[in-house]
Amino acid sequence: MRVFSTMPQWLIFGVISFASLLALFVFNSFLNGLIAVSIVAFGAFLLAVYLHDGAWWRWIHLAFMPLVVFFLQFDISPNWYLLILVLSWLIFGKVMVSRVPLYLSNQKALFQLAESIPHGVQFLDVGAGTGKVLRYLAAARADLSLSGVEHASIPWLWGKLRLPASVRWLHKDYQTIDFANYDCIYAFLSPVVMSDIWSQVRSQMRPGSLFISNTFVVPGVAPDQVIELNDWKSGKLLLWRM
Ligand SMILES: C[S@@+](CC[C@H](N)C(=O)[O-])C[C@H]1O[C@@H](n2cnc3c(N)ncnc32)[C@H](O)[C@@H]1O
Repeated sequence: MRVFSTMPQWLIFGVISFASLLALFVFNSFLNGLIAVSIVAFGAFLLAVYLHDGAWWRWIHLAFMPLVVFFLQFDISPNWYLLILVLSWLIFGKVMVSRVPLYLSNQKALFQLAESIPHGVQFLDVGAGTGKVLRYLAAARADLSLSGVEHASIPWLWGKLRLPASVRWLHKDYQTIDFANYDCIYAFLSPVVMSDIWSQVRSQMRPGSLFISNTFVVPGVAPDQVIELNDWKSGKLLLWRM
């Protein structure tokens, strides 16, 4: 199991899917097809529980092989696959502009983040995704005033449905937000935007405030503190005090 803790999640996905295909091939030779698919899907689910770091993976694995087998039974028009592609674009399409994909902070990051935010401050998650960070903090840190900004429509809508009403949940580009209104700003974005967001941080954040980046460094600017997350991607929280 140790080797899997250092593996990227996409590789674990590939390993489980490949193992599922092999298992299906074997089971299908002596079991009823439906039973074979069910056993394989449940096995993939269990492997995902132990090997992946996010709960969503187990549901993906549970559904993946049954869906592949199911859709192979029909003569489905390629237009449906095109529609799915368009829908995916609606969810992740902004990545072409922002160059920041949607992925979520893991439990280790959330725990360390909650430990690092000063008491009673105005907190902002820039590029807040589905609001996972804010949901965690709303439960773990009742002393904070929480805000999040997300420009992709579907993740924002998902957050809108799930976040407590006390969270300010903004549907816009974080570049239009005045960072001076916040004491602590958290960013889990991508290496390509770090120089730009640092310019915004330096020009807008007030003295004494705190900027935290999950994993991505600001080129040429050493953080004041680094908190190792000890996860599969060697993640860390990088803290800069203004
Ligand atoms: C890696 S996800 C992080 C989600 C969340 N902060 C977390 O840690 O779980 C980054 C998110 O930032 C959003 N994003 C990227 N550029 C943005 C911008 N300029 N304004 C608002 N949201 C942005 C993306 O759509 C994506 O959902």
